[in-house]
Order: sequence, then structure tokens, then C-alpha cells
Amino acid sequence: MTPKIIVFDAYGTLLNVNALDGLLEHHFGDAGTEISAIWRSKQLQYTWLRTLMERYKPFSSVTMEALDFACNSLKLKLTEPIKEELLHSYLQLEAFPEVRPVLMQLQEQAQLAVLSNADHAMLEGAINHNKLTNVFAEVLSADAIGHFKPRKEVYQLACDAFKCLPTEILFVSSNTWDVVGAKAYGFQVAWLNRFNNTPDHLGYREDLIIKELSELVVSS
Ligand code: LAC
Repeated sequence: MTPKIIVFDAYGTLLNVNALDGLLEHHFGDAGTEISAIWRSKQLQYTWLRTLMERYKPFSSVTMEALDFACNSLKLKLTEPIKEELLHSYLQLEAFPEVRPVLMQLQEQAQLAVLSNADHAMLEGAINHNKLTNVFAEVLSADAIGHFKPRKEVYQLACDAFKCLPTEILFVSSNTWDVVGAKAYGFQVAWLNRFNNTPDHLGYREDLIIKELSELVVSS
């Protein structure tokens, strides 16, 4: 498979959603890791619920509501300054270390894009922070649709941007629900399974499983 267009999910795939664990531990001690897990899980649930209810709010708001839930569920006080610090840090989330060097290589063999549930301000913040500004031909956000992935209209943004068929795109995600959604839409899909996760059982499977992004680089 040597695709000419590679589209990446952002959070969990390029950006490390556990990058704030240290900051959470600094503020909340041992509860830090638990907050982090509940935060991410609720963030995703809220995107799906808002999509089902047709009550869209940008990913930045959903992310903050999920953080409120996480602290509330553990009976922890989230002060305004800590909340602001966490939001600010989330806007500058670290990419996994291999991301920049591998994307620089992949850029030579394909057009690259991001397709994320995050709004543009969040994506721009993370892209600038990780020095990925010139890497992507397109940065596509669910915000343009007003619903979140896995709604097919969001995946369709990539085909509209590149004026191509779904099968001409290789979509790369670490998120199993996103792998299923992208496959159901019709992309070629690579599941980046860094952490030996279990696939979702919804009847749609990836075309390719990789453990590292570098496996996508075609040697010349
Ligand atoms: C993304 C998430 C939610 O779309 O992983 O970037």
C-alpha cells in the first residue's frame, strides 16, 4: 500500500493525551493518573453524546466539561487557576517523540493532513507548539460540520479537501472507535496500536496494524 494521501487523527495518534499526567500529579498527587483516564474517557463520551443529541459544542468546551466531571467524580476541587493552567497546557499538548521526524519523511512520499474532532484553535496551538506548521497540506476540523467523528460527514471533509475517493486516502488513528468509523466510511485505514490495545468489535476492521508511525515510510 503506497497511498498518495495520508490523513491523521490528532489526539492519541499524533498528540500524547497522557502528556499532562505529570502536571495532574503535581496538583492532585496520586489521583493524577486516574483524573487523566477519566478525563479522556469522558471527553470522548461527551463528543458522541453531543453528536447523538445534536447539541454541538467545540472540542475545547467538551474537554473542559470532561475535566470538571473527572474532578467532581473523585471529589477533588478544581480551582480556576488550575483549570486555566490545564486548558492552556492542553492547547500545547506534546506530540509523541517520533511524530515530527517521521512526518518530515512521509511528507516526501505523500500529501499529509490532520482530521480531528478538535477545533482549529486547539489544532493550530498543538501544531505550532510541536513545530509541524509546514507538514500538513490540510488541517481539517469537525468544527466545520458541527458534529464529531465518527459521523461520516466529518470523514467526508478529507475527500472534499483532496477531491478524491475515500479509498485513495490512508487514514491513520490510534483510537479504535475512530478506526471503525473511518473504515465504515470507506477509507483505507491503518491502526497505530502503540500500546497493545484491543480492537473494537463492530464489524469494521483496519487494513493494516502498525506499532510505530515509521512503518508507513516507504524506503526508496
Ligand atoms: C481527534 C480525537 C478525538 O479527533 O482523537 O483528534
